[in-house]
Amino acid sequence: MRVTIVVAVCCIAFIFVNNLSGFFKSYKDDPHWVEPYSAKAAGGGGAPNPGAAQGAGAGVFNSKCAACHQGSGKGMPGIYPPLVGSEFAQNADISIPIRIVLHGYQGKIQRAGKEYNGVMTPWKDALSDEEIAQVLTTVRSSWGNNAPAIEAKDVADIRAKTATRGTSYNEAELLKPL
Ligand code: HEC
Repeated sequence: MRVTIVVAVCCIAFIFVNNLSGFFKSYKDDPHWVEPYSAKAAGGGGAPNPGAAQGAGAGVFNSKCAACHQGSGKGMPGIYPPLVGSEFAQNADISIPIRIVLHGYQGKIQRAGKEYNGVMTPWKDALSDEEIAQVLTTVRSSWGNNAPAIEAKDVADIRAKTATRGTSYNEAELLKPL
């Protein structure tokens, strides 16, 4: 009994003293610590984290899109569709993903065997041409997605062509070429 108490007191004292002297440093000092998303996703040193958004648009993705589509790009089944493997995100008609981000997207859709009927808000007033180009390039090249980059001038072009639009797109409209 007495031995147990002595051991317990020693343990507590050990933890206390080491804590004071900084033995248990911030978890960020751990050489294996990987900052979720930001540093690695932005291309900063070390091996890239394949579960995170990659490239210059990763910051915008994580702050504006990941709340719904998740940092993994997998979305939430039946609520927010996945961007991983998304044909619309990776479409050769780049006006499709650009129109979605500029003006928003709603209505019934089927993706990967699940039905969605959500509302994605427009980003035309919140994000610049450059930011939309970067975030879409990130979406098109992260998590195994593999579609060419989108440039700011492409976004500017679609923005100008759809300038009078005041409502979100639905799937049927997106499938009609601009
Ligand atoms: C508030 C939640 C929300 C946020 C934030 C959001 N989205 Fe969405 N997104 C949705 C929903 C919901 C849909 C599907 C709409 C529907 O059901 O018709 C969607 C659809 C999409 C699609 C089409 C996917 C497909 O395969 O049809 C793309 C591409 C997309 N979003 C990109 C983005 C990007 C890029 C951002 C950040 C700039 C973003 N989203 C932010 C909710 C969101």
